[in-house]
Amino acid sequence: MTGWPDRPEDPAVPAPTDAPTESPTDAPTNAPTESPTEAPTASASLVYDPYDAATGADPFPVYARLRREAPVYRNDALGFWALARHDDVLEALHDPDTYCSRHGITLEPRSPLPLLLTMDPPEHTRMRAVLARGFTPRRVADMEPTMRATSAKYLDRLRDVDSCDLIADYCGKLPMDVISAMLGVPEADHAQLRSWTDAMIEREDGNPDVTPAGIEGATRIYQYFSDLVAERRSAPGDDLLGTILAAEVDGEPLDDLHVVSLCFLFIIAGNETTTKLIGNAMHLLWRHPDQRARLYDDPSLVADAVEETLRCEGSTQQVARTLTCDTTVRGVTMAEGDKVLLLLGSANRDEDVFDDPERFVVDRRPTGHIAFGHGIHVCLGAAMARLETRIALEDLLVALPDHELDPDGLVRINSGNVRGFAAMPVRWTRR
Ligand code: HEM
Repeated sequence: MTGWPDRPEDPAVPAPTDAPTESPTDAPTNAPTESPTEAPTASASLVYDPYDAATGADPFPVYARLRREAPVYRNDALGFWALARHDDVLEALHDPDTYCSRHGITLEPRSPLPLLLTMDPPEHTRMRAVLARGFTPRRVADMEPTMRATSAKYLDRLRDVDSCDLIADYCGKLPMDVISAMLGVPEADHAQLRSWTDAMIEREDGNPDVTPAGIEGATRIYQYFSDLVAERRSAPGDDLLGTILAAEVDGEPLDDLHVVSLCFLFIIAGNETTTKLIGNAMHLLWRHPDQRARLYDDPSLVADAVEETLRCEGSTQQVARTLTCDTTVRGVTMAEGDKVLLLLGSANRDEDVFDDPERFVVDRRPTGHIAFGHGIHVCLGAAMARLETRIALEDLLVALPDHELDPDGLVRINSGNVRGFAAMPVRWTRR
């Protein structure tokens, strides 16, 4: 295919090869000079700003430097610490008494809603048990026909064309339809909900605050679910919302605020992350045609390719915690009340855990990646996300053979912690 620039000009990914790349912000003068034990917090030239668009486009060279030079990194300007190494991140995830979630899991002020993500034990333990009862492996498995039918429906619309925006026309639709169907949201409302959630996670370059459109989106979603919950209290369906409405905590049903908050969480958590993961997988496979060819030769490797995408380009790059007491890591003491970013995306490329970690290898079968977190908050939707992404890749590889992305048209979302694309122009040879 011709007409679009070649892969090397992709602004979002500086190089098309497996070789580790340098980000635009990572000038050669920043070369590492000190060992981690000598300089555990940072050399002056090392800046990690998760809201910087250039860092967001390619954070991996900065992560590598953080692991080497400043595994316990301090950003005074933005007021946070960051842990970059796999063992430190894992330890923090398993210590919710010290690294708590109740003040929010991003650098921004936490949502006022009682979200599972921002609860600590014992409240978290009780609420998680409610959800785990509703969100069973069986219920996820039962969704497979819906996932396959939804995927087929959107790919059918592309049958007579040879180009599209993969995010708008497919990746963004499948997870939203599936989680909405699971909850019992009418199909006619799916697109509207998706545009509100998209607005919520978008950030302006260099500004960590939720945009006015994002605030509007969050308000609308809340109102939408308030109305739906009121309607379903009297006529519950045989769906996840029905299960949540029937659930009891300490012998009492959940009040509207908690039910609406759970719906809110599912829509946000179940939609954006999986949309972005499918897009990231298609981007990686385009950048690595040799790896894509291996999937064509052996489609049984698709599930492995999903795991490797999670490791290499997981859609949640970081989660934040707040310290409940002064805490020392690698000789650096962080104060009670300080925010700490746990860099999942960096941990997943830690050379102490993964061989040649910057390489994307579809059948690597990485054990120990923490793209879904770990410990008490480990992602409740992991099985669903894995299944959905596997189905998407199986179908996309057949429907869009030889897919070519337009590097000039790729648009990354600008978000502190979500990694993925807002637009991904793609074309292929029509069947
Ligand atoms: C590729 C897709 C996904 C990724 C990368 C992802 C990632 C994560 C991560 C890292 C956490 C832990 C947060 C923390 O420790 O503070 C988490 C929690 C959670 N995820 Fe996911 N997620 C994905 C898909 C989903 C889906 C599809 C659902 C549901 C439909 C879901 C529901 C949740 C929920 C409810 C929690 C909170 C668990 C708790 O606090 O106990 N996620 N996810």
